[in-house]
Amino acid sequence: MSRHIEVEVNGQRYARSVEPRLLLSDFIRHDLRLTGTHVGCEHGVCGACTVLLDGEPVRACLMLAVQADGHSVRTVEDLAEDGELNPLQEAFRACHGLQCGFCTPGFLMTLQPVVDAGVKLTDDEVREVISGNLCRCTGYQQIVEAAQLALAGESAGADGEADPSPYPSGGKG
Ligand code: FES
Ligand code: FES
Repeated sequence: MSRHIEVEVNGQRYARSVEPRLLLSDFIRHDLRLTGTHVGCEHGVCGACTVLLDGEPVRACLMLAVQADGHSVRTVEDLAEDGELNPLQEAFRACHGLQCGFCTPGFLMTLQPVVDAGVKLTDDEVREVISGNLCRCTGYQQIVEAAQLALAGESAGADGEADPSPYPSGGKG
């Protein structure tokens, strides 16, 4: 039997009838067609499906759509402002943190609340924040650098190239 839910997603209110077993990730991707949220493991391990629920990162593959009833969800589609990448996205581009792109929405949605909070973190603390997001292909160094650039509140510049000087040199991974 379907359940009626009302969810605010990226500032827009949606009223839908859904099966109680429908995952929030499937609701977002299939019902709302917001396919920027990716699904990897579907077991809460990889972090690719991370979205913000009332401002907090959650795994959309571990939640049911009915659990989002009455709540606010933010997906990666909401980060760009007026068609322009937001500062965190710009930092990912400038520092080559995008890499394969499959996991990137999850990294962005995990880091965005930290950027919004305006806190400064050490590299180790950034790694702790993103410890629930898996990259299968390259590594995490550029992602850490991108996070630090965004946390520093520095512009990536009009040409998208960041000044690499704030970062220590070192190996990737
Ligand atoms: S798809 Fe949700 S954590 Fe991997
Ligand atoms: S950059 Fe996405 S899995 Fe490695």
